[in-house]
Amino acid sequence: GLKKKEARILVLGLNNSGKSTLLNQLKRDDSKLPNDVVPTVGFNVEKFKNQNVGFTAFDMSGQGRYRELWEHYYKECEGIIFVIDSSDRLRLAVVKDELDLLLQHPDVTSRCIPILFLANKKDLRDGMSSIKIASSLHLERIQDKPWHICTTNALSGEGLHEGIQWLIQQLY
Ligand code: GTP
Repeated sequence: GLKKKEARILVLGLNNSGKSTLLNQLKRDDSKLPNDVVPTVGFNVEKFKNQNVGFTAFDMSGQGRYRELWEHYYKECEGIIFVIDSSDRLRLAVVKDELDLLLQHPDVTSRCIPILFLANKKDLRDGMSSIKIASSLHLERIQDKPWHICTTNALSGEGLHEGIQWLIQQLY
């Protein structure tokens, strides 16, 4: 059964990776809940709760101007969803830089939190496979945390359920 304690999931990714679209899909799964997107002035943050799981999404862009703001959440999250635009080959190196910083952060290094990688926009013809993305980002180096990668289409919701199921299993 679910613990009483709320699980906090951090949703990270570059701008345009599909975070908002994914969150909207998750909100749709639970129609009892109002779609309470709370925009913060000057910073793209979204929050909502699905039963016992609270999701907070951050944009890892803007030259890291707000880096400290999202890093502040590392300490208290129980899981991370890392969203990648699988059609954005040009910025895969930027994604890797951001992942490196995330994995090196003291509040992440010290904790065994599960990381779900979503290779999003799988519907686009020029999209990279999850195998290609996993090897480009060197995901095999993550050995002290459970991680999983799956392909998603945030517009249709395809693949999302499988990923979230995996993450929830790691939490409880
Ligand atoms: P910011 O709002 O800039 O932080 O980006 P975001 O990560 O929240 O991305 P958002 O959900 O706004 O999606 C960016 C664009 O990609 C939108 O035009 C979406 O419709 C589109 N998009 C998101 N997911 C998919 C997908 O799976 N397939 C396709 N084809 N388009 C997608």
